[in-house]
Amino acid sequence: MIIFNSKFRLKTYLESVRNQAGKCEIGFIPTMGALHSGHISLINTAKVQCDIVVCSIFVNPTQFNDPGDLTNYPRTIENDCKMLEKAGCDAVFIPEVSEMYTSHELELKKQGIEDKSWTEGKTVDFGIIGTVMEGAYRPGHFNGVAQVVSKLFRIVEPDKAYFGQKDFQQLAIIKSMVKQLEIPVEIISCPLVREPNGLAMSSRNERLTSLERERAAIISKTLFQVKALQKEKSISELKSFAEAQLKTEPLIELEYFEISNAETLEPLTDYSQATGAVACVALKLGKVRLIDNVVLY
Ligand code: PAF
Repeated sequence: MIIFNSKFRLKTYLESVRNQAGKCEIGFIPTMGALHSGHISLINTAKVQCDIVVCSIFVNPTQFNDPGDLTNYPRTIENDCKMLEKAGCDAVFIPEVSEMYTSHELELKKQGIEDKSWTEGKTVDFGIIGTVMEGAYRPGHFNGVAQVVSKLFRIVEPDKAYFGQKDFQQLAIIKSMVKQLEIPVEIISCPLVREPNGLAMSSRNERLTSLERERAAIISKTLFQVKALQKEKSISELKSFAEAQLKTEPLIELEYFEISNAETLEPLTDYSQATGAVACVALKLGKVRLIDNVVLY
């Protein structure tokens, strides 16, 4: 596995790979590191579907709305590289912040100004997808995600890019961004991977104490109960049930529990409003913010 810190060197390598091989499909997995089996499952899928697999590890400052969260985000680069090598990843891109952002872009972030230069003059509107749930609770988050992912796509120019369904709303944002900017990449959504007790795998789980990790089982338990009850209860009954159950755990501070249209992410009040629905939850468990979801139908 080749490690790149420079976008120029990575681009040169990928150009030579493309020129050598007649047809060479490049699969790309953008990450913020602290890799776990969920990320490795994305690498494995890309290995099957592509000729060359590239991963990036970059804790993107522009998508954090809370500076403390950025500082505390787990960083485990050595172990990440070992895991990627073992999984058969061909190249990993680990840029410094200065390799990805100009000082002007960082200054805008510091001043809390949403930088829209990543749209390259086009009008990009995420509509409701960008304003509900994570959009409401983490102002500026999706702008930062779109900003960095569009930059990474311009560097790697992948044929396919892989994202986990744990970040269900992020996936919808990226699909919408690619469509609106007409970026020629296929977005592949991959199943959410869970720990043995049902907790959705996340880099943030590293920050949970063993007690919190144990108690976190109630999150997926609640989501699966909601799924099991969906034919018997109305949407408002399901929401009340889930909120009441999650509130029984004193370590949990619930941010939202929402049942939404699986495509537009618009909150639903009635099943007839959508052909697909997803239940999404965000909460704090101790100091760690977690999200999870389950597709209902
Ligand atoms: O899902 C993540 O890890 C990040 O949001 C991503 C897509 C790598 C962008 O920084």
